[in-house]
Amino acid sequence: MIIKPKARGFICTTAHPEGCYANVKEQIDYLSKKEKINGPKKVLIIGSSTGYGMSSRISTAFSSDASTIGVFFEKPSNGRSTASPGWYNTAAFEKLAHEQNLYAKSINGDAFSDQIKNETIDLIKKDLGKIDLLIYSLAAPRKTNYKTGEKYNSVLKPIGNVYSNKAVDFNTKVVSEVTVEPATEKEISDTVEVMGGNDWKLWIEKLKAADVLSEKFVTLAYSYIGSDITYPLYTKGTIGRAKDHLLETVPKIDQIIKDLDGKSYISVNKALITQASSAIPVIPLYISILYKIMKDKNTHEGCIEQCYRLFKDKLYKENVCVDELGRIRLDDWELEEDVQTKVRELWEKATTENIKTLTDINGYSSEFFKLFGFGLNNIDYEKDIDPIVDIPSIK
Ligand code: NAI
Repeated sequence: MIIKPKARGFICTTAHPEGCYANVKEQIDYLSKKEKINGPKKVLIIGSSTGYGMSSRISTAFSSDASTIGVFFEKPSNGRSTASPGWYNTAAFEKLAHEQNLYAKSINGDAFSDQIKNETIDLIKKDLGKIDLLIYSLAAPRKTNYKTGEKYNSVLKPIGNVYSNKAVDFNTKVVSEVTVEPATEKEISDTVEVMGGNDWKLWIEKLKAADVLSEKFVTLAYSYIGSDITYPLYTKGTIGRAKDHLLETVPKIDQIIKDLDGKSYISVNKALITQASSAIPVIPLYISILYKIMKDKNTHEGCIEQCYRLFKDKLYKENVCVDELGRIRLDDWELEEDVQTKVRELWEKATTENIKTLTDINGYSSEFFKLFGFGLNNIDYEKDIDPIVDIPSIK
């Protein structure tokens, strides 16, 4: 099959196996030049196939020699269409980890289900005994309660008021105005159910009951705050409510793992181009502006740089580096005053006419397609290749 990008709105429906392999390899190469970390040894990552979860997996494996189990929800190829990028990423990750004699196995399925939780517990018992770190990096559009059959959908909406602001279509590069209607009460509670802390806590309860958590076990979930421009839609909107719920879950999880001297944390990360963030109105424009400023200032980071800094400078330290609410802050450079002042200035000025010079919209677009394995140097995109790629640990 000759595989080309097929974009539909903010998604791309194809992925390139060799390009995804090159993306994973690039992240590993970045770490190979960095100092090793005396970090975790046996790690479970929920949402490990793309974005922050994948970089967390790569980082713990290749900087701390950790054994990793990854859980995700991805689509293999049936020979007629390609697999999803997370499938190819994981195939690449396992291959490269095994070459370094690192343990790496994966489970594909719905992390919200009991079945996947039980499969994961069985695998930990069989191969690792106990885990010392769990990273919860799920970005899911919906959740099913398998006991009742009830379905919950996560939405990105403001609460209380209509939100109108500028946005850019990163395919056409046209700047326009978007208006998002406020969420209903049901949409708010559904979003909290999908993206809040309930399932994170359930994982910990089940793992604890199965006795597969080690002494001084640590767990992390990822959050975002961002700029006042996106505040009404994100931080003060439905997804922000879910993120508040994650933070409220921290003391509950701490209570469950108290006897292990364990600890849970929220890590507030930087805005980055991932499949999840591209779906949020106004975020592509915000990121295009932010990247331009942070690249000029030399403080720009991608997922792998963020994750390496998280483990090296924030978490695996004598004293974990946290703010007044106990949160790890990887958004420190994004929120520097001069950066945010400049973001507001460029936001006001951005139009269809100046978007390409004023912001990093071209960088956004290429990085978006890179998530799917497209636009990389040294890949022959005219070559006929087999879309069916096996993940070694998945039968
Ligand atoms: P992503 O879309 O790249 O990754 C999502 C992961 O969740 C994938 O591995 C996917 O397979 C998995 N997944 C989705 N539904 C699943 C299910 N039902 N069962 C099992 N796995 C499932 O997302 P991204 O952006 O890396 O987000 C991860 C976390 O980081 C989210 O909590 C997000 O809010 C947070 N975050 C993201 C930021 C960003 O700018 N991208 C910034 C700060 C925090």
